[in-house]
Amino acid sequence: MSIKRVTILFSGEGGNLENIIKKLHPHTIEIVAAITNNPLANGIPKAQKLGIETIVIDHRDFKKREEFDQALVKIITPLNIDLAILAGFMRILTPVFTDNIKAINIHPSLLPLFKGAHAIEESFNSNMKVAGVSTHLVNSQLDSGDIIDQVCFNKEDMDFQTFKNKITQIEHELFPKSIKKVLLL
Ligand code: GRF
Repeated sequence: MSIKRVTILFSGEGGNLENIIKKLHPHTIEIVAAITNNPLANGIPKAQKLGIETIVIDHRDFKKREEFDQALVKIITPLNIDLAILAGFMRILTPVFTDNIKAINIHPSLLPLFKGAHAIEESFNSNMKVAGVSTHLVNSQLDSGDIIDQVCFNKEDMDFQTFKNKITQIEHELFPKSIKKVLLL
């Protein structure tokens, strides 16, 4: 069986990006490119340092979401990938993307709670006793595709920094597992 090919899409720090490359590339999956919509993303040098080609496609160069998504599809299709991995990719995708590319995402809450860009703060500030991380298939609704895996923890008495560190630690354990699960590895 040939090794599965993936691309990783990211917008910022690239902590998950770096972790996935270090844990899975190139023995378990081949990361053929890392794609970002943000020319200043801190993840760019992280990927390059680990030998991954990076592609910048700035969403601000496109008038409509659909046009940006079409351009993304045009870049991704010839890469012949089995899966696109959204690792902190801060764009809402339209059916132009989701009907053509199989993708998974990681989200720092127990979905369907706290969708969107402020999940960490909202989850921390909620009166719930638990919080967590979800991985899910991507569809055109924000943070709404079928859930792949979830991990939850007790957040009572945690300060915000400890809470954020816990989320990161869980993300870095969970995402590689979910990627392997979806790729049947
Ligand atoms: C993570 O918390 C992820 O769950 C969310 O965006 C954040 C990205 O962090 N979707 P990083 O860029 O991987 O460090």
